[in-house]
Amino acid sequence: MSRIVYLNGEYLPEEQARVSVFDRGFLFADGVYEVSSVLRGKLIDNQGHLVRLRRSLNELAMAAPASDAEIESIQNSLIERNNVDEGLVYLQVTRGEADRDFAYPEGVVQPSLVMFTQQKNVIDSPQATSGISVIAVDDIRWRRRDIKSVGLLAPCMAKMQAKAAGADDAWLVEDGYVTEGSSNNAFIIDAEGTLVTRQLGTEILAGITRKAVLKLAAEHRIRIEQRSFSIEEACAAREAFITSATTFVMPVVSIEGTRIGDGKPGKLTQRLRELYIQTALDSIGER
Ligand code: PDD
Repeated sequence: MSRIVYLNGEYLPEEQARVSVFDRGFLFADGVYEVSSVLRGKLIDNQGHLVRLRRSLNELAMAAPASDAEIESIQNSLIERNNVDEGLVYLQVTRGEADRDFAYPEGVVQPSLVMFTQQKNVIDSPQATSGISVIAVDDIRWRRRDIKSVGLLAPCMAKMQAKAAGADDAWLVEDGYVTEGSSNNAFIIDAEGTLVTRQLGTEILAGITRKAVLKLAAEHRIRIEQRSFSIEEACAAREAFITSATTFVMPVVSIEGTRIGDGKPGKLTQRLRELYIQTALDSIGER
């Protein structure tokens, strides 16, 4: 069954949604995106995603295609039209259509807004029970990873390297330290039970799930350190996990072939996953 997608003011069957070859998103990856998760047909933490979208747009001097309220109403309409119970809504803004020129087009160019849904079991994911394996990959991305740009070839290559190595994902390493996962934030729990994740900056994306998990950890009096850590430190950690809107809290049980802890999802990791899901369900009045 074909999905209904949103493209610049219209709801269309996916086969009929067409973007110009002159769209700068297509020619220059001149665009930004957000992925919001959906549980029981409701958006989770969407305000955070909309705030980050606005920040990404500002950093690139790109016009907003619609108000936050309008964007959220389109997201909700797509969830309804496609009967999404659990999964995600993808949204992308590109600078729009102009003849090919590296400089941003002058004058008013209508930004292009695209949205679609994906049905996915985020809560009952088999990987949440088994945990995932990651390898270390050189972080070859650009230096503004705080902007959620659609220029994603480097993480695609990292995922393919992981796949070729028989692993599930890659942790990206720069100057000897882990920046983040290919499309998620990276965390470890050290021998003393301290939760460690990299400090924010232009080197990583400020994950919305990362923020929620740090808040929950603080509320539960878990010691937190926001600092860089190496792959060697991660391999010696008691537990490890990743966070993102499409995985929530996902245990990592192997790094570079080294078993983490006893090779099963860690206790604190599982607790944080449960707390995150509970809080998300509470936020939409479900339990
Ligand atoms: N990725 N870091 C990177 C590089 C990411 O691409 C993502 C999200 C995150 C986690 O951010 P959040 O918790 O706000 O989802 C961190 C999305 C899910 C994606 O590209 O599909």
